[in-house]
Amino acid sequence: MSAEQIKPEGRPKIFDFQGISMINYFTDNWEHVQNFHARPDDILIATYPKAGTTWVSYILDLLYFGKDMPERQTTLPIYERVPFLECAVPEIHTGTELAEKLSTCPRLIKTHLPVQLIPKAFWEQNCRVVYVARNAKDNAVSYFHFDRMNSAQPEPGDWNSYIENFMEGKTVFGPWYDHVTGWWEKKQTYSNIHYMFYEDLIEDTGRELVRLCSFLGLSTTAEERECIRGGTQFDAMKANPMANYSTIPVMDFKISPFMRKGKVGDWRNHFTVSQNDKFDEHYKQKMKNGALVFRTQI
Ligand code: PPS
Repeated sequence: MSAEQIKPEGRPKIFDFQGISMINYFTDNWEHVQNFHARPDDILIATYPKAGTTWVSYILDLLYFGKDMPERQTTLPIYERVPFLECAVPEIHTGTELAEKLSTCPRLIKTHLPVQLIPKAFWEQNCRVVYVARNAKDNAVSYFHFDRMNSAQPEPGDWNSYIENFMEGKTVFGPWYDHVTGWWEKKQTYSNIHYMFYEDLIEDTGRELVRLCSFLGLSTTAEERECIRGGTQFDAMKANPMANYSTIPVMDFKISPFMRKGKVGDWRNHFTVSQNDKFDEHYKQKMKNGALVFRTQI
């Protein structure tokens, strides 16, 4: 499916799916998603869209397969190495098919589902989950530009209406607030979740790599970690066709590249003072869990 095949009026429409704003590309394969056979060594990379999924996916792929399967680096785009579980876009393999075809061990699997929609087999098999969260303002900005350039996403409208929709949870995969909080609360009862922050990764990728390896039980040398850190920095990934999504036809990089800015604080270039005040007020109402704190600048 190419960008030309999806005209603006043909962009997918949001509908309510089990209480979450969704589009058909993430619900059409629901039967298979729900009944997915997770294995105990599967690793789920879970995020709200645009929180740093690709970055962490690439890091995990290199940690597990960078040394022993170097050919992956030049032949397999990240979305084939790390299938997107609920994805069901016409003319390409569904996420569940790609995941089932994976011959790697562990299998790395990406999802944007809120915690309550995760297929139960992942919990039954006690799979490890790496969750990445990003502050709401930068997350919203990144999502806005993504929706502008990706014709398989709903039409975003202008920035002002987009930010209203974001606050109301009318972006695909539902409210950011419930997503980050739901996964945070799950972590309190399910110990196999490593909850990461995009801002921490930007601040000190090396430190976050040490924490991630400790969660995964991987022993790596400082040299190996430095190699992964360097290879997954923004500029390196932006220039890497296997990581930068340049091979996806529905994305129009002339409108906005997938690897756009990769910064903390770009929201300041988008929010007006009154949008910011309104957003902050609304945020206070929605984010009552005082333990979950985000940084909008570092
Ligand atoms: S998706 O479509 O949900 O999988 O997108 P996702 O990968 O979660 O998020 C894309 C944003 O992450 C930024 N990104 C990075 N930032 C810093 N360093 C690295 N290596 C990196 N890789 C991806 C990417 O640029 C998008 O953020 P914005 O703010 O739009 O630039």
